[in-house]
Amino acid sequence: MEKVEQQNQNISKEDRKGLYKTIFSRRDVHTQFLDTAIPDEVLSRILYAAHYAPSAGFMQPWDFLLIRNSETRQKVHAAFAQAHAEAATMFSGEKQNARSNFKLKGILDCALNICVTCDTTRTSSVVFNRHPANTMDTSSSICTIQNLWLAARAEGLGVGWVSIIDEETLKEILEIPDHVIPVGYLCVGYVSHFLKKPELENDGWLPRLDIRNLISFDRWHGQPERSEAGILQQLKQDADFPAAAQEGE
Ligand SMILES: Cc1cc2nc3c(=O)[nH]c(=O)nc-3n(C[C@H](O)[C@H](O)[C@H](O)COP(=O)(O)O)c2cc1C
Repeated sequence: MEKVEQQNQNISKEDRKGLYKTIFSRRDVHTQFLDTAIPDEVLSRILYAAHYAPSAGFMQPWDFLLIRNSETRQKVHAAFAQAHAEAATMFSGEKQNARSNFKLKGILDCALNICVTCDTTRTSSVVFNRHPANTMDTSSSICTIQNLWLAARAEGLGVGWVSIIDEETLKEILEIPDHVIPVGYLCVGYVSHFLKKPELENDGWLPRLDIRNLISFDRWHGQPERSEAGILQQLKQDADFPAAAQEGE
């Protein structure tokens, strides 16, 4: 097999800084969209970044439905609003329901909606790395969404993920066939600003968890040997890293 070495394999310090800045300043956006079109050359770069995501067995199960048509968006918005109304009982009171309805406006306000799907039949049923009982195909489509989300942020575009909807209704509106799963419905567009922290964190919905409480050693909730404890110390010491990296420091 032909083995092609990559010419410049080093990621420079500046490149690394840009990557971390993008990761830590990415936000889920629903309310700050501007009425500015996305140039095709920008969209093209983002779609390429998405398409170069990892996938189990290299199955690349994704498709990207680019939705600009306002009639289609109205239908999708109505379906989401209905699903949100039905889910309202799960939330604590009217405030949350009003808030989520407000956020749904992003479907209509942003420059572009993208539905990312997973074609469960894209490759033969026996695929390297794929076990029938797992969800490697949908996991792969989720990887593509993360790539898209980060590339969009690097291009100065906001992305908002809207997930509460009746899947069958969405499939009907977008004429998605049975064997294809809509994995993510995304609002994409230029925004007036990016918040520093997740909206749900700002609103006191949930705090960001301390990463040190999410790390165990050699088994579930296993405690570190003395020689392994250094990483916990380091994480404590680096607690300001995300905020500094967000500022590009
Ligand atoms: C699978 C998935 C589904 C989501 N669904 C919704 C949604 O339906 N409505 C919404 O407002 N945000 C949704 N979000 C965004 C999250 O609320 C957001 O990522 C989280 O609060 C952290 O904020 P950040 O993305 O700005 O860091 C979703 C995110 C993911 C990964």
